[in-house]
Order: sequence, then C-alpha cells, then structure tokens
Amino acid sequence: MNTEFEIHNEDCIEHMATMEPSSVDMSIFSPPFPSVYAYTSSERDIGNSEDFKGDAKLHLSFFFKQLVRIIKPGRVVVVHIQQIPRMKRSGEVGLFDFRGLNIRLAERAGFVFEYDWMVRKNPQALKNGTGVLTPRGYVEIDSLTIGSEVIGSNGKPTTVVGVWPHFEKQMYRVTFNDGSFVECDGDHLWTVNKNAIRYASGRRFTNA
Ligand SMILES: C[S@@+](CC[C@H](N)C(=O)[O-])C[C@H]1O[C@@H](n2cnc3c(N)ncnc32)[C@H](O)[C@@H]1O
Repeated sequence: MNTEFEIHNEDCIEHMATMEPSSVDMSIFSPPFPSVYAYTSSERDIGNSEDFKGDAKLHLSFFFKQLVRIIKPGRVVVVHIQQIPRMKRSGEVGLFDFRGLNIRLAERAGFVFEYDWMVRKNPQALKNGTGVLTPRGYVEIDSLTIGSEVIGSNGKPTTVVGVWPHFEKQMYRVTFNDGSFVECDGDHLWTVNKNAIRYASGRRFTNA
C-alpha cells in the first residue's frame, strides 16, 4: 500500500460504507446521469435508473451520507454535473433539475454548498444557415432555441436543451467523398455513417 494514495475499484455505495471516517482529503467526481447514458449493464449503476425521484435519489442519498462521513472535515468536494433532459419515452418533457437534487441531498447529508461554475459543454459550431433536420423538415441552425425539437442521431425527435453564442470563429469547409460538404469550426467532432446520406428539398445533407 502506498502511503500517499490508494486506488479502490468497487461499487462506491457499498464500499464507502467500509471506509474509515475522515480518511479522504478531497473528492472530485461526476455522478452517473440517470437515464442519459448506459455506462454499464449493472442494476447498481445509477445511470440505469429512469426514476429521478425514486431509485436515483435513494442511491445518491446513500452516497452523500457516506461521503460526508469519510471526507476530512473542512475539505472540498467538487461535483461535475449536468441537467437531465426528460425522455419522451418515459412520457415526460422538459428538464429534470439533477444539479438541484445533488445540492439538496448533499446539504441534507451535512455538506455546505459554496458555489458553481458553468462549463460550456459543446463549443462546436456550424455555419449559420446550416440545415438541421426537425420533425417538420429542415430548418436553419440559427433559428433553433431552447425547447426546439430536432431529430437526434438515433433518428428520433429530441429537445434542444442549450444554445450557445459562438461569436466570430474560423470556419472550415469539410468535403466528403460524395461531394457533400459542411461548414464548421475546427473543434467540431464528427461520427460518420456512410449509409446516412440524406436528400431534402433538392439540397443534399450529410448526416454525419
Ligand atoms: C458521469 S460518469 C463519470 C465518468 C468518469 N468521470 C470518467 O471520466 O471516466 C459516472 C460513472 O459512474 C459509474 N458508476 C455508476 N454507479 C456506480 C457505483 N455504484 N459505484 C461506482 N461507480 C458507479 C458509471 O458506470 C460511470 O462510469
């Protein structure tokens, strides 16, 4: 065992309960975001809960109760979190305040909420006027607002949860081997599906 650090690879809910009180100097983590990603197939994974007010809340309340016990008094906990779009597949719309849930559960366990930073999550830019597929056809990207519906990469309608101003940026024309192109900034990441070339209103769009 190293005297400066240890690595524990366990189910945190069970394992934290076995750790010594006041034994952790600092905690930095990102909790699983319920219903957004499938991290693992385990039922212990909070990411697999669709029930924010039930399973997910219960797991997180156990988590914060243990965390407050094992962290040294006066030390810092940094939590990376995102708000959760409610999924239409579970009959819901809008956002779930996952940030607020974590703050309330942490405070209930005994933590003091100090402050937060907003991280612009998606700095990738497309040129104004680029066509975006919505359930009502293509619209220009700069007409989208929070709450607009677009067709997601799974082919199903999804709600826009954030719109970020990009100001002036260096743009590039990315040309695909079928001649279609898109104009985007240099940070834009692309997943390319060669079978997904779409045609609409005489214009060609590449679903990339
Ligand atoms: C938002 S992700 C954070 C990923 C991490 N920051 C990284 O960069 O790899 C949440 C992670 O917590 C894991 N997780 C979910 N339930 C857990 C549990 N009970 N014990 C330990 N890890 C868990 C998920 O599988 C997922 O990998």
